[in-house]
Amino acid sequence: MNFLVIGSGAREHIIAQRLVDSGVSVFSVITNRNPGLIELSKEFLFIQNYRKNLKEIVSFSQVNDIACAVIGPEDPLALGLSDILLKKGIPVVGPTQQLAQIETSKGFTRDLLSANNLDVSPRYKRFNSMNGVKEFISELSGEYVVKYDGLMGGKGVKVSGEHLMSIDDGVSYCSELIKIGGTFVIEEKLHGEEFSLMSFCDGSSVEHMPAVQDHKRAYEGDIGPNTGGMGSYTDSNHSLPFLNDNDLNQAREINENVSSALKNEYETGYKGILYGGFMATSNGVKLIEYNARFGDPEAMNLLTLLDTDFASVCMGIVEGCLDSVKFRSEASVCKYIVPKGYGTKPAKDATIVVNDSYRDYSDLYYAAVNLEETGEITTTSSRAAAIISTGSNITEAEENCESGISYISGNNIFVRHDIAKPYLIQKRIDNMEKLR
Ligand code: AMP
Ligand code: GLY
Repeated sequence: MNFLVIGSGAREHIIAQRLVDSGVSVFSVITNRNPGLIELSKEFLFIQNYRKNLKEIVSFSQVNDIACAVIGPEDPLALGLSDILLKKGIPVVGPTQQLAQIETSKGFTRDLLSANNLDVSPRYKRFNSMNGVKEFISELSGEYVVKYDGLMGGKGVKVSGEHLMSIDDGVSYCSELIKIGGTFVIEEKLHGEEFSLMSFCDGSSVEHMPAVQDHKRAYEGDIGPNTGGMGSYTDSNHSLPFLNDNDLNQAREINENVSSALKNEYETGYKGILYGGFMATSNGVKLIEYNARFGDPEAMNLLTLLDTDFASVCMGIVEGCLDSVKFRSEASVCKYIVPKGYGTKPAKDATIVVNDSYRDYSDLYYAAVNLEETGEITTTSSRAAAIISTGSNITEAEENCESGISYISGNNIFVRHDIAKPYLIQKRIDNMEKLR
């Protein structure tokens, strides 16, 4: 059986690895020459840009008799690659363009939640002009978040007190969005601890994965610019140390309700990975955002712990017969190696040198790097490699991850070593205790 993996980061490297582990053949569509994907793929199609190469992706799938395509990143989902492949009879793990709006339109998601009486949103309003913007921000007492209503490479969300230091800052950001023809949502700023809960969805059934916490800020102590994610961890009980049973159950229920709401409103139902980005607050679990795909780095934690054959899970999703999905009862910690300055001004000359002894402690998945003709691996301005380890508890997994990292050397590289260290986890627990 031939599977197609679309995307070329560490998330797609581990997706391809789990598929190969399942005994199927992997073909891939890549936008950088990821050495891991190149090694695992029977054949690959290198493209510069999804938008310009949709037709080539379809022909590549047809020529290679693809039984199932797994879409990793949001861009091809936003462009409707699932719809195009489905029309040609190629089943896809990843929602259609209409349902991918759960990620591509903040307003779509907030309206879907309210229309279905899912009371998990902060106070919000959608805007397509400056009418009422200043009034609404003032009504929220300056505790607000502005969200561009579309994909902006993770840069469309600006939070008061972090990026917008006054009501006037908010108003001027909104007028910038109006100038570029954008619409946006303004919502109340929530306080609490963020976590992700991803679920496999086959259109009707929903199978939850363990809860994960990502670290979006670039530097230790959760400071600096937002990034794609610097690292993530899961706990052996599939919850997180700062969550109670109620929080986890609420998040699971929200994903289940959203999958049903999408099934009721749109015939096909949602087939793919439903990624809920939640915040545990003093007032229960609230939804920050949905994504229509696996999180990255979270995919490293989840697919490492997956204890059910991944190709069968994918076929269950596309055929609408998803069975129970199991995960090992272990903790996991993933940390990314990135070029110094990633998030603002990434070093152009970062290098990584991998000593294979890392394998005694960790697995490594390549991200935005390129295998050159000389055999050398060069970095780009984005994340370079994810190191993932497991252990019987978070501390053991974190120590294994650091041991793995110690075998990776190079120039101008950076790792957030504080991720999953006991003091950072305690800070999260204390924060939640204070808020509850
Ligand atoms: P995103 O780029 O959509 O992942 O959002 C970036 C970050 O903005 C999230 O991870 C949160 O930290 C923050 N954020 C988004 N919405 C809210 C909210 N309503 N209250 C507080 N923080 C938020
Ligand atoms: N981990 C954040 C994301 O995948 O969007």
